[in-house]
Amino acid sequence: MPSLSEISRSVKNELAQFEDIFKASMRSDVRIVDLVARYIIRQKGKKIRPRLVLLSAKICGEITERTFRGASLVELLHTATLIHDDVVDNADKRRGIWSINALFKNKVAVLMGDYLLSRGLMISIDGKDYDFLGVITEAVKRMSEGELLQIQKTRKLDIDEETYFRVISDKTASLLETCCVIGAMSTTNDQKFIESMKQFGHSLGMAFQIRDDILDYEGTANLIGKPVGGDIKEKKITLPLIYALNKVSKSEASRIKNVLKNGNDKTKVREIISFVKANNGIDYALKISQNYSVQAKDALNIFPESEMKSSLIKLVDFVTQRDT
Ligand code: IPE
Ligand code: IPE
Ligand code: MG
Ligand code: MG
Repeated sequence: MPSLSEISRSVKNELAQFEDIFKASMRSDVRIVDLVARYIIRQKGKKIRPRLVLLSAKICGEITERTFRGASLVELLHTATLIHDDVVDNADKRRGIWSINALFKNKVAVLMGDYLLSRGLMISIDGKDYDFLGVITEAVKRMSEGELLQIQKTRKLDIDEETYFRVISDKTASLLETCCVIGAMSTTNDQKFIESMKQFGHSLGMAFQIRDDILDYEGTANLIGKPVGGDIKEKKITLPLIYALNKVSKSEASRIKNVLKNGNDKTKVREIISFVKANNGIDYALKISQNYSVQAKDALNIFPESEMKSSLIKLVDFVTQRDT
């Protein structure tokens, strides 16, 4: 599996420049805001989204200030949604350390998420990147809709594949798609390049979330930075389980759903994981994420060979094979 530093070698200096702008964008003279912001900076994320902006920009043209503003915008939005997501999911770990809600309580987490989102939007306003605002607000809308649809389905414990794909397309792929579009838009006006990068980002995003859902079944808590089985504890039905439930009899499926609904956390996680494995749910999900990774690579066909193109291809492999 390619490493993240290998992937971003072609934008190494730009990534360092981004880090500075990103840190500076969170500064506040309100002490508690600054305190939480410093904590967020310590919580090192993988920075996949800014990497995507930089690579998409550089494959289409010359990186400019506008590209950096775009990269900061998407990482601020991403950070905001993770903070909100951990409130929604009752998660107490993120990136290997306490989540914001666990450490500073829900009230602070909700408001800090809003603060980061607004800082991101302000960067675009100040830079007059009005075209970014159009795409980013569409992503924010889809992300909240996706999360809400997921809540609706989780409550009823009924979700089919089609709905699952809608949920992950909205809650996750929409932002990765946006990163690629913003990156491309920052360096080219050519619609056909922008459209190809959008396709790339969508397929990459789908593969990314399916991998994330697989890791909930067979990841290592230390590497993923959050406990394994978190989705199961929250009664969340994702692709490996959807597939397994469809394979067994109606009565077996309702027995499993009953375990998911009423079982106590420890035994339920164990039982659901072995049920999914016994019915090849993981293999199936791996196959689907593989299909998306092929689609993502195909979307790059219109670009000539370059260092950026091979980085983007490596990023696809990283996303579908990652343990972290
Ligand atoms: C986590 O995204 C949220 C999902 C969409 C599954 P990342 O795995 O990219 O999060 P960080 O930024 O590296 O922590
Ligand atoms: C990821 O959702 C967060 C968003 C896409 C907004 P999940 O709840 O599935 O991801 P993790 O597992 O907490 O990172
Ligand atoms: Mg969630
Ligand atoms: Mg979550």
